[in-house]
Amino acid sequence: MSFQAAESYDRFMGRWSRPLAAELVRLVDPQQGQRVLDVGCGPGSLTGALVSRLGVAGVVAIDPAAPFVAAARERFAGVEVHQGWAESLPFDDDSFDLALAQLVVHFMTDPVAGLREMARVTRPGGVVATSLWDHDTGPGPLTPFWAAARQLSPAAQEAPGPTATRDRLLDLAGRAGWRDVEHTVLSVHVAFGSFDDWWEPFTLGVGPMGDRLAALDDEGRERLRRACQEQLPAGGPFECEARAWCVTGRIPA
Ligand SMILES: C[S@@+](CC[C@H](N)C(=O)[O-])C[C@H]1O[C@@H](n2cnc3c(N)ncnc32)[C@H](O)[C@@H]1O
Repeated sequence: MSFQAAESYDRFMGRWSRPLAAELVRLVDPQQGQRVLDVGCGPGSLTGALVSRLGVAGVVAIDPAAPFVAAARERFAGVEVHQGWAESLPFDDDSFDLALAQLVVHFMTDPVAGLREMARVTRPGGVVATSLWDHDTGPGPLTPFWAAARQLSPAAQEAPGPTATRDRLLDLAGRAGWRDVEHTVLSVHVAFGSFDDWWEPFTLGVGPMGDRLAALDDEGRERLRRACQEQLPAGGPFECEARAWCVTGRIPA
């Protein structure tokens, strides 16, 4: 992965994850003077929303991917950005008032360990939260793409698989020892100037969708492009909705 990965991520998923971050911050409502950990920060969609609320001194971020860590450090000078994994967070117990992980749990090799670590580094009375696009009932940001891919090839699977259901998230949170667990649906709307505006980021090679597209020849790519177009409102501009499950917990005082 190169620094370009951060730019591509932003153009592809960032336009969805930035409004989602705003919704997550609204939900957990961190207060001035509090310290918040952003786990799996990527190039910084949630980091940015937290910095706007708390200033750089209130935000610590961590991600395993070096280009994302570099991008987050460059974008948010003064924010402590670490390179590391959720499953072994390099922080003392009770270091934060809140620990949040947006669109990360399905990437963790051991999600229960990752969520348990988030609870360990959060002080008694503090809040932990994690969100994932609702790939179960949807719509998610990629729903039109996978619907089109399945139409052309019924075996096509929508990433990221079974972790993205509400019950699975609740189960993981319970097994990680989160208490007072609640779930909420977060909804975002993203505006697109045209179909090409929607389509172009899929050609950047990000994630399983980028891989799928790259594996097709020109004709296959054009068929998929047309099938996606049929899933979306004709012409433009138009708006798409995506919904995410968010699970929150409280650390026993
Ligand atoms: C879909 S991105 C989400 C980035 C950011 N939170 C956002 O909302 O835009 C998933 C991120 O999880 C990170 N990641 C993958 N495995 C991880 C792990 N085990 N612990 C922490 N982060 C991880 C990836 O490097 C990537 O930045």
